[in-house]
Amino acid sequence: VFDMASALAPTNIAVVKYWGKDAARGGNTPINSSASLTLDPNDLRAETVMVASPELRSDELYLNGRKVDVKGDGTHAKRLRRCLATMRRRCAKAKHPPRSSRATSSEELSRWGVRVVSRNTFPTAAGLASSAAGYAALVRCASELYGVRDTPSFSLSATAREGSGSACRSLDGGLVAWRKGCRADRADSKAEQLFDERHWPDLRCVIIVASAAEKETPSTEGMQRSVATSPFLTHRAEAVAEPRLLDLQKAFRQRNFERFGELTMRDSNSFHATCLDTFPPIFYLNEVSKRAITCVHAFNAAQKRTRAAYTFDAGPNAVVFCENEAAADAFAALAATCFLGADLSRRGLRGLTNAPE
Ligand code: DP6
Repeated sequence: VFDMASALAPTNIAVVKYWGKDAARGGNTPINSSASLTLDPNDLRAETVMVASPELRSDELYLNGRKVDVKGDGTHAKRLRRCLATMRRRCAKAKHPPRSSRATSSEELSRWGVRVVSRNTFPTAAGLASSAAGYAALVRCASELYGVRDTPSFSLSATAREGSGSACRSLDGGLVAWRKGCRADRADSKAEQLFDERHWPDLRCVIIVASAAEKETPSTEGMQRSVATSPFLTHRAEAVAEPRLLDLQKAFRQRNFERFGELTMRDSNSFHATCLDTFPPIFYLNEVSKRAITCVHAFNAAQKRTRAAYTFDAGPNAVVFCENEAAADAFAALAATCFLGADLSRRGLRGLTNAPE
């Protein structure tokens, strides 16, 4: 006897970064609101299958083909337990189990053991928000399995946040904002879609994988250290992030690439500056990342306007946004400068792109 569900969720790339948890409130409660773009699910995504059965004595998790000890102290074990517990509590309260279920009641279904099998279509923990896609897919899958939906008093996005903060932004497409929340318990700290994926169909992103190795400082640990030691982080959370989100929303509404691009690059730089202001400092960018930054600025200078914009999450991989018409040129310039050591001067770039003389 078993029930089964499957789901997928794309990854997202933050354009106003979430960095810092509210230690007093616990969990993944952010100290600032953030915003991200959800990538096309056909590209970078997590895929999750869940099987629930009374014959499964305990929960099981397989991540990218490897069995994870769900009862242990590992990060994923604890996060999975949190998300599952919330979904099960919600399921147990329902009047009926989903129509396709073999369980006689929701309460019974919530007690069955589950096997969770999840995989990413891209490098895990290399700063490409794999945990965002992973926990969004998990919550979506559990929502199918348990028949649990969004209601005014229950939010799938807030449940995904319990797994990984950035995951709460991966349940919608387009430009998504995660409000830090204002209720005392921050139960309203969840994501909302600002513009769907059809709003700016011309927007593209080029990803430069500067390293597929796992990052040295996981986000959670990095944030804790920044909150404890960086005065710049307090300034960022209190004075920079909120107004920037409003500006970015406006630029996005107008499809103003120059403004959107500048805000995105500035926010990435401000986040990595915070990492450097952390003590001991955290370095997520490597030499290839720095070449990508220099390349984008040289590319824009050669075009006399912002046609490409980089951003880096907690890792060295560059995500470069551009509009369709600039994508081939930006890609050629980035590939040549990051990996083939091409000259970054205007002359060097002119050979690679249609930059004006
Ligand atoms: C730099 O969401 O991975 O990508 O909540 O501890 O799981 P946890 O952190 P995580 O942090 C993402 C940090 C970031 C910025 C962002 O995505 O907004």
